[in-house]
Amino acid sequence: MTDIAKQDQVLIFDTTLRDGEQSPGATMTHDEKLEIAELLDDMGVDIIEAGFPIASEGDFQAVKQIAERSKASVICGLARANFKDIDRCWEAVKHAAKPRIHTFIGTSPLHRAIPNLSMDEMADKIHDTVTHARNLCDNVQWSPMDALRTEHDYLCRVVEIAIKAGATTINIPDTVGYTIPRESADIIKMLLERVPGADEVIFATHCHNDLGMATANALAAVEAGARQIECTINGLGERAGNTALEEVVMAMKVRNDILPYQTHIDTRKIMHLSRRVATVSGFPVQFNKAIVGKNAFAHESGIHQDGMLKNAETFEIMRPEDVGIAGTSLPLGKHSGRAALRSKMNELGYDMADNQLNDIFVRFKELADRKKEVFDDDLIALVQDEVGQGEADTLQLKRLRVVCGTEGPQEADLTMIVEGEEKTIDATGDGPVDAAFNAVKMLYPHKAKLQLYQVHAVTEGTDAQATVTVRIEEDGRIATGQSADTDTVVASVKAYIHAINRLIVRREKVAPGEDRKEINYKDLH
Ligand code: KIV
Ligand code: ZN
Repeated sequence: MTDIAKQDQVLIFDTTLRDGEQSPGATMTHDEKLEIAELLDDMGVDIIEAGFPIASEGDFQAVKQIAERSKASVICGLARANFKDIDRCWEAVKHAAKPRIHTFIGTSPLHRAIPNLSMDEMADKIHDTVTHARNLCDNVQWSPMDALRTEHDYLCRVVEIAIKAGATTINIPDTVGYTIPRESADIIKMLLERVPGADEVIFATHCHNDLGMATANALAAVEAGARQIECTINGLGERAGNTALEEVVMAMKVRNDILPYQTHIDTRKIMHLSRRVATVSGFPVQFNKAIVGKNAFAHESGIHQDGMLKNAETFEIMRPEDVGIAGTSLPLGKHSGRAALRSKMNELGYDMADNQLNDIFVRFKELADRKKEVFDDDLIALVQDEVGQGEADTLQLKRLRVVCGTEGPQEADLTMIVEGEEKTIDATGDGPVDAAFNAVKMLYPHKAKLQLYQVHAVTEGTDAQATVTVRIEEDGRIATGQSADTDTVVASVKAYIHAINRLIVRREKVAPGEDRKEINYKDLH
């Protein structure tokens, strides 16, 4: 192993703004890119690949401004293997305190065939373009695209040429996510052993996730001597994405016993970045995604909740606060047990004797069989014997028609039973949901404020069942309503009416200001 490869520092190269943004539909605006770059810089990312300056005027301006505003991070731009690309890239990154040019060419047989270059012609091109880049900038990264499907002898030859021409980082991309961990390690080992000058450069690993092994492949490359990992927040990237930054960094932190490497990343900033990237890219994070998914620190099953309440290490290998999450959550559902129910009831201010808890537990299970998630409100209703009684009586939806489209204002024609009497009204609003909610307010005037309006698609397709949650607040009393329908506006109105009905019951049973807004289990461990 070379001296560099023996060091325990692994550089984190984030390419969310370049490779990540290349995923179809993930385009970010100029300001969003600046914001993400600043967050990455603050988090301690060593190298930010800010874009592909030749791709468009917008990309150029974004890379240029990110470079101008950069603080500690190296700012890198991507360029194909031609002078025009490289010059444009330099024009953008040169404004950074620490600029880098990253140039690449596809070296596998499939990729050599596209420009129809012989092996020798491509070797000459690599020499000329890397030399040109190095004459502009003393920090040059070179990538043989599709390296994992390039003939080994040819790969060694072109890597040697790039190093001799002045490349300071050699990136080995598994462009199509084709490799497995053992091979990912073997390639790095081979290059370190066979290529003259390999000990003077940093080897990087750039893995795509087509077989779901990007993180494993990147870590295997590091174990073999790579000292730069290319990755993206949330694993954003072409097709199945890239190695996820949060996964490699947390793997090295949690398994430091067998992955004894350090990074500069402040892991507590991970969650915020994950959320911002999900929002600006429009790519939501899957619930069960490692580290940053909604369920990564949530436990519903009774055995797990019981374990978590006794010792968080029973079912969590890292602390939520280490990745910037406020705390573990123990959502109550049909798999939950008595321990979690008791804990939640205590949180809600109910100190229950065993027989009382047993009684509530039976009714809680019946309810949980009917509902996906049981909310605090549902539990309070159980205790106060509200479930199934009277809730739906005050207001009932009878008929709803909405007019919506590009020309507003949108209209709702609503008929409801209000305290036993049928009433109809027309209302307008800013969108069909707003119009329909206005109609409800006109038929049943109240001063409750909307605190939360959330729509979830339960199935796929345009006929998906939408589940809508509405939370309202009046004088410190909180009521939540939920409903599902294939028509989102109907589901919304039903959820709203459900919440008002519950509020009406709560007006009689709960003193003003008594409701707690949120239960968080962060204090439990
Ligand atoms: O996947 C890939 O090969 C790339 C290169 C441009 C480095 O993203
Ligand atoms: Zn890539």
